[in-house]
Amino acid sequence: MTGEVLSISRLSDGVFDLRVGIALNAPAPGRFVHVAVSGFALRRPVSLCGYKDGIARLVLAVKGRGTAALAEMKPGERIDMLGALGNGFPPPLGKTLLVGGGIGLPPLLYYAGTYPGAHAIAGFRSPEQAVLAEEFPSVEVCFGDDYPHKRIKPGFDRVLACGPRPMLKAVAGVCARLAIPCFVSAEERMACGVGACLVCACAVGGRYRRVCKDGPVFDALDVDWSEFSPAET
Ligand SMILES: Cc1cc2nc3c(=O)[nH]c(=O)nc-3n(C[C@H](O)[C@H](O)[C@H](O)COP(=O)(O)OP(=O)(O)OC[C@H]3O[C@@H](n4cnc5c(N)ncnc54)[C@H](O)[C@@H]3O)c2cc1C
Ligand code: FES
Repeated sequence: MTGEVLSISRLSDGVFDLRVGIALNAPAPGRFVHVAVSGFALRRPVSLCGYKDGIARLVLAVKGRGTAALAEMKPGERIDMLGALGNGFPPPLGKTLLVGGGIGLPPLLYYAGTYPGAHAIAGFRSPEQAVLAEEFPSVEVCFGDDYPHKRIKPGFDRVLACGPRPMLKAVAGVCARLAIPCFVSAEERMACGVGACLVCACAVGGRYRRVCKDGPVFDALDVDWSEFSPAET
């Protein structure tokens, strides 16, 4: 479906906030849209950072040529996206903790706005890169090697996490030790985005699952963390 770019603004160096007027199917926190980029065959997966009154909010970091092209879009331009896709985060259960790193925060902010009451831990490399944190109703922010997983305490009923893989692995480890159920949003390169091509397959629960269709959110206990080298942790 096609929407219209309503506004685009810079949040920090290389991170921008895009608002698009578009009718999305069942937008929910943790689901994503698959965005077409002019001049590129493959769409780019982007989490919903919010959706209200027919306006989708996407917060994107420029990584390569596709996201750089999206950052150049202007209000009034048409933009094509499929969605919402994927399974999304589970609804709250008791006391919920959100743990996000860097550009993993957008779907967690959508969650915090949809289900009030969750507390968040937001980790960034440096204060200059701290985007979105101030929008969470309840948040603690950490930088550098004060990693988010070190701040997880007992007393939560569920942890939801999104961010770099080493952070997700560390969060999953702490939650397993504290016996807190934990769900992580995984990131894989995608092609079709709708479960047909298997490009995004990864090992979950002893079998291969499609991140685009079966995920991107998985129970952390089911994820095969061994695929991540110790150097990444
Ligand atoms: C479910 C999901 C949600 C995401 N949500 C966000 C978000 O909210 N904000 C944000 O800034 N980024 C998000 N990403 C990452 C974003 O999709 C990539 O940074 C982007 O696709 C890079 O495209 P590029 O053309 O700039 O980079 P290039 O490296 O030039 O891309 C080349 C190809 O690789 C794919 N690719 C590259 N990096 C990734 C990646 N990390 N994940 C998936 N595909 C990748 C691209 O889609 C493209 O097909 C998400 C990824 C996934 C899987
Ligand atoms: S991207 Fe094609 S099956 Fe997931």
